[in-house]
Amino acid sequence: DQADRVELFEVGPRDGLQNEKRPIPTGEKIALVDLLSQAGFRRIEVASFVSPKWVPQMADGAEVLAGIRRAPGVSYAALTPNLRGYEGARAARADEIAIFASASEGFSKANLNCTIAESIARFLPILEAAKEQGLPVRGYVSCVTDCPFDGPTPPGAVAALAEQLTALGCYEISLGDTVGRATPESIAAMLKAVTGAVAPARLAGHFHDTGGRACDNIETALGFGLRVFDSAVGGLGGCPYAPGAQGNVATEAAMDRLQSLGFSTGLDRAVIDRAAALARTMREPR
Ligand code: HMG
Ligand code: MG
Repeated sequence: DQADRVELFEVGPRDGLQNEKRPIPTGEKIALVDLLSQAGFRRIEVASFVSPKWVPQMADGAEVLAGIRRAPGVSYAALTPNLRGYEGARAARADEIAIFASASEGFSKANLNCTIAESIARFLPILEAAKEQGLPVRGYVSCVTDCPFDGPTPPGAVAALAEQLTALGCYEISLGDTVGRATPESIAAMLKAVTGAVAPARLAGHFHDTGGRACDNIETALGFGLRVFDSAVGGLGGCPYAPGAQGNVATEAAMDRLQSLGFSTGLDRAVIDRAAALARTMREPR
């Protein structure tokens, strides 16, 4: 039944691996993506085309996209901070791209070295080119409840940015609890504002699990009508520019919670478990 469906958007190969200090061989990244391609995901984020000085781990995005075996029906996504990144992603035949803005100025500066307004100005030519070339663009909004630099984020700021990115052509807005400190209460306050500005069918939840509440936050977001959530096998991840931030909610944990609530993800649990085990071997001990 369509009403009981929830999509998990696998972001492990990008958000999960970007923060690892050990240079992970390209072949290992490709092996992870190839395994994930058999799990039943509709979308997998596999690379980012950002400055290799800022995120050295993602410097081999083009090689990853060239090396994977593309499964039919799977969209392979890449993150792009500027037109140069967009051109890289397109040359590497990413199926869709994502731009990423912050709802707080402190994180915008730390992550993109510019103000929120300046980041939007950089995204405009990407959105224009993507529209012309028929590439879907997803929009991330970071720090939707808490910013490691500015403190709590006003829900109205998230709603305004989500609305702006939607108006500019993003087909979906992924709402990021970048630091993983959100609670069901702060998520509810944020979603009350955001769903007043953007339809829940165009929203996704992207919850890091630092505080151990990510599954609870998914449950809260389900109540607001969201049916897409970003997750990473093995709970890998963190953002190098968000001090203290830990991994994304684990895909397998999200599956368990969704199943207990009567939702199905259509994913093959045996493949997910193998991918989670593989992902954990790629992570250095902390
Ligand atoms: P900058 O230093 O202000 O700008 O960085 P720049 O234009 O001077 O670029 C610096 C150097 O990078 C230059 O090289 C550029 O050529 C090069 P140099 O001249 O010094 O040799 N460069 C590039 N190289 C390859 N690809 C590019 C590119 N652009 C510039 N596209 C910049 C500005 C935006 C580039 C930088 O701040 C950056 O790369 N930031 C990305 C940081 C990042 O990837 N963070 C993690 C992803 S976001 C995230 O994890 C959050 C999310 O998961 C949601 C959530 O959890 O909230 C999505
Ligand atoms: Mg993230």
